[in-house]
Amino acid sequence: MNTKLNEYIEKLASTHQLSLDAYEYVITHRDEEAAEWLARKARDISQSIYGKSIYVRGLIEFTNICKNDCFYCGIRKDASCSRYRLDQEDILECCAEGYDLGFRTFVLQGGEDAYFNDARLCDIVSKIHTLYPDCAITLSVGERNKESYQRLFDAGASRYLLRHETADRDHYHKLHPSSMSFSHRMRCIQDLRDIGYDVGIGMMVQSPYQTAHHLAEDLKFVETFHPEMCGIGPYITAKDTPFHDQPSGSVELTLYLISILRLIYPPMLIPATTALGTLDPVGREKGVLAGANVVMPNLSPVGVRRKYQLYDNKICVGDESAQCRHCLENRMDRIGYTVVTDRGDIKLWD
Ligand code: SAM
Ligand code: FES
Repeated sequence: MNTKLNEYIEKLASTHQLSLDAYEYVITHRDEEAAEWLARKARDISQSIYGKSIYVRGLIEFTNICKNDCFYCGIRKDASCSRYRLDQEDILECCAEGYDLGFRTFVLQGGEDAYFNDARLCDIVSKIHTLYPDCAITLSVGERNKESYQRLFDAGASRYLLRHETADRDHYHKLHPSSMSFSHRMRCIQDLRDIGYDVGIGMMVQSPYQTAHHLAEDLKFVETFHPEMCGIGPYITAKDTPFHDQPSGSVELTLYLISILRLIYPPMLIPATTALGTLDPVGREKGVLAGANVVMPNLSPVGVRRKYQLYDNKICVGDESAQCRHCLENRMDRIGYTVVTDRGDIKLWD
């Protein structure tokens, strides 16, 4: 490893920050030795906070109807996939099954589907909150106005996942149609924080047109914003999108960035994503060994899973919820970690 790279990694591990140029340098000059060293440091610091416990979230993909047309996404408005939405009863059934399986966090994720206006979504959230007061409710339903986020918070949601996708304005506009704006995305993220949500941001790795400089900007954003959660996974080619011929990102760079993220903000919740598991049969295990501490098995009814196809060849589309949970428990077990029955809140850190 060259001396400068060595110095930057040491500095990152001790101060949890670097300049934008230094982040870019650490990305562009990476080699196997640096990756292993970073992963070891990331694992150590993660274990000093969370031990060998892995938090689990039950993911309910409750609608694939979306008004947006993000160029990378397989459920974008113009994609020809077959559409579905779950009703309240279906969602509550998923929660009941998930609760019995030991989930204490439910993540309701979906496209930006106008059917789920504040009244309908608040009703669902408050029912889950009343039935399972010991569980955390996470929403991931895209951009809404601040009043709407506030109503959902008051109804019982306490976490929100809204990936920023890229911290670079120009890059953002290469990934999205002109009807969407970088400033609005960032405004939403700030509103969520101001209301008091635990906020999850994140980006795809090697999305089309992404450079090392863009990734450095993403890292800087994490360093300054300190989100409670950061979800990163490789960009994966999705048919029937304007990017259908763009290559998928790499598992190797995703793992390297997970380790860096862990060192930037050690208590941050970092999932080993389904996208990692899609590109590599042991991608999620590798994610944990690189410093991730969360997994998100699918709780959606099997009948609709194939329809929530954000990208090609997504895994877990044919497995029952119980299978998915047990599969992940076994996978974590094999690498010496334990999936725990816990809300999995971020731990305070000084
Ligand atoms: N509609 C909500 C939103 O915009 O935040 C939540 C659903 S959205 C489909 C969830 C995430 O999937 C996006 O934030 C994006 O990062 C990821 N995603 C979409 N298409 C992808 C692709 N082709 N490869 C990898 N991840 C993708
Ligand atoms: Fe779904 Fe393995 S996590 S089958």
